Amino acid sequence: MKHINIVETGPRDGFQSVSCHMIPTETKLEIIGAIVDAGVKRIQCTSFVSPKAIPQMHDAAEVTRTLLEKYPDVSFFALVPNFRGAEAAVQAGLDSVSTVISLSASHNMNNVRRTHQQSFDELERILDAFPELKVEIDVATAFGCPFEGQMDVGRLVEFVGKLERIGVRDFNICDTIGVAYPVQVRQAFSELMEAFPEAHFSAHIHDTRNMGILNSYEAIRCGVDTVQTTLGGLGGCPFAPGATGNTATEDLVYLLDREGYETGIDQRALLRAAKLQVEKIPGNYSGHHILIQERPA
Ligand code: COA
Ligand code: ZN
Repeated sequence: MKHINIVETGPRDGFQSVSCHMIPTETKLEIIGAIVDAGVKRIQCTSFVSPKAIPQMHDAAEVTRTLLEKYPDVSFFALVPNFRGAEAAVQAGLDSVSTVISLSASHNMNNVRRTHQQSFDELERILDAFPELKVEIDVATAFGCPFEGQMDVGRLVEFVGKLERIGVRDFNICDTIGVAYPVQVRQAFSELMEAFPEAHFSAHIHDTRNMGILNSYEAIRCGVDTVQTTLGGLGGCPFAPGATGNTATEDLVYLLDREGYETGIDQRALLRAAKLQVEKIPGNYSGHHILIQERPA
């Protein structure tokens, strides 16, 4: 049985998209606790960003410290948009972060207010200052950009090459606005894995066109062993107009269970966590599936 690593990113990518009310810190911790109870072993728990840019992440340090203390067996990491964020993440006790750079220069400017070169320089600064820190890159808008349209696979491969030369080994290839399609996903991951055999690639696919599960599975069938999803499909990038929810964790786990993959996650417990989250947090759920009652296996 092939093992697939499911990385839950809802506490960052999902919670950051909730704009109608502030999610209480205890509610975040309760939902993350339910995700841990379902057997998820790697969770992006928050982001260390400007609270002006993303007010919902104001409690990043508190959330991180509490989780690290409570669940020592779970691997937590956070998104950091800049050096200052990396510093704060390390201070809160994390040994693993992801930092985001968009393939499209216009989205990079809109999201982190940097040119590509400024982002590369900042990344080098982080790598130099924290040699023990695991730094993964979220390559945002890898398939399409809200401002520039469809992204070319050749351009993606060249971009990853630049980051690899800076010293990055872990890449999370993101369909930030959910416009990828299976042929494009297959071509992107096959070419990346062939061009960079020493690197590790994961997939992070949004569900705007209902293709999240299809594209995530396509990546897995290409040999990708790590996929990022969000509980209930909650999500959407605040800096990408039109971006909606993510691939729902409980749906991907269901598919993988049935198709003979192993995730180590209890899908029914995940479904209960998703229902709890829908009750507690009104938001943009790509999943209709959550409403379906549990049935006998
Ligand atoms: N944590 C907390 N506050 C931060 C911060 C961080 N990592 N980085 C910057 N800030 C604050 C600064 O203190 C400043 O606050 P002030 O206006 O009260 O003085 C403000 O943000 C702007 O600072 P500046 O140095 O101009 O920021 P910057 O250009 O280095 O970066 C970003 C701005 C990118 C940090 C900010 O726009 C951001 O956090 N964006 C979020 C990106 C994101 O998470 N997108 C969605 C996920 S892909
Ligand atoms: Zn995302």
